[in-house]
Amino acid sequence: MLAASGDLWPELIAFESDSRVLSTPSAAHLYIDAVQRIKRPMSDTQRPSSRLPGFFKRSLAERAAIVSQWAGLETDEQTVLLGISGLTPNQAEHMIENVIGTYTLPLGIAVNFLINGRDYLIPMVVEEASVVAGASYAARLVRAGGGFVTSSDDPVMIGQIQVLDVDDVYVAAGQVMAIKDRLLAEANSRDPVIVELGGGARDVEVRPLMETPAGPMLIVHLLYDVRDAMGANTVNTACEHLAPIIEEVTGGRVNLRILSNLADRRLATAECTIPPDVLATDELSGADVVRGIVEAYAFAAADPYRAATHNKGVMNGMDAVCIATGNDWRALEAGAHAYAARSGRYTSMSEWWADGEGNLCGRLKLPVAVGMVGGATRVHPTARVALKILGVSSARELAEVMVAVGLAQNLAAIRALATTGIQAGHMRLHARQLAIAAGASGELLQRVVEAMIAEGAIRLDRAQELVKELRG
Ligand code: MEV
Repeated sequence: MLAASGDLWPELIAFESDSRVLSTPSAAHLYIDAVQRIKRPMSDTQRPSSRLPGFFKRSLAERAAIVSQWAGLETDEQTVLLGISGLTPNQAEHMIENVIGTYTLPLGIAVNFLINGRDYLIPMVVEEASVVAGASYAARLVRAGGGFVTSSDDPVMIGQIQVLDVDDVYVAAGQVMAIKDRLLAEANSRDPVIVELGGGARDVEVRPLMETPAGPMLIVHLLYDVRDAMGANTVNTACEHLAPIIEEVTGGRVNLRILSNLADRRLATAECTIPPDVLATDELSGADVVRGIVEAYAFAAADPYRAATHNKGVMNGMDAVCIATGNDWRALEAGAHAYAARSGRYTSMSEWWADGEGNLCGRLKLPVAVGMVGGATRVHPTARVALKILGVSSARELAEVMVAVGLAQNLAAIRALATTGIQAGHMRLHARQLAIAAGASGELLQRVVEAMIAEGAIRLDRAQELVKELRG
């Protein structure tokens, strides 16, 4: 597919070789024209493979062109990708307060993802090296075992209403449950659009908390299907609307009315099975690597100090997709860590084990409260493009992709830790960054990197010398 457009690459590389050129409108249009001349994208049913060998070796412009073609991006969307356009100060001004500018981060693409038999290119926004490479590598391993299998709950969020000063918490609980149907109808009256889309209030639950620093209190949970929204606004509005009704029937006083980030009714699960031979390294057999990964999991399962780092690896992947798609990564983090402590002891978010045939099996099940409508997902131009590249059609699908990425990221980290250690990969990336800074590209870049690694001298001055020597 790419070979057919091979004559285009020199043109694209020429543009990239002077990054200033992309910041001028006329050059930008030349670039866009070049990209447009690549064969138009295929329809979704013919979605091409996300297995793109050597993608990382391409230049930035080539990668952008490949992804633009793959995802069928329009001209204006390509300009967003390249940073020629994007979030304007005016748009930023309407997102938060006291805006003085905008802030950019790298947007990378993780390749190789096969989820429920469908190919995905994964947009990831992250400042840390190795994350995108790690996810891509792990996705390739998982692909060898048939890809990720994912599932998810309906997008049901929990809203909490805190009721105090009742004579008897249990009596108040009964009074609330007696008007459950009225509460559901009232909650639905606040957002007819979401109800029309098939969402809306689903249930009411009561949770007496007898021993708190403020004495006994009743917590009312409103369970609300928010469809393709993250849901915070919808749920908070509904809770605020229900509060006076609950005060009236219980004779109590409502204090907080707010959604819970422990969205444990909105879980997404990703699973994978990897044959051991795929995991073998030069030094270790596949079975040894499987054992090392299962032992790494056991460490995180038993020890909160290790679990925090293990889970940070999971969130490296999930947060990067969350940010790329304009979602609230603090909400995601809060829910994921609280869920990891649901037994009363903080533990590993993921599970890894060997099946009867020696395959490595992994599972990640987490609350994933993310949306495709509302908030920055629609306002931020890059988030819109990221969603288009992902090609997901619902918040549930997005959540499933995110847990698959989390599981891949976790696998990449613990596989590296259980084999060569993570520094080797980091140093290779660092060497690459230095070689680029020293002016190397293409084949020269590769040679400079290899030479620095072989010498164990990964420094800018050495990269500069090597560029001179090898060019000469
Ligand atoms: C670094 O960002 C993440 C890791 O520490 C995760 C882990 O230790 O599993 C590599």
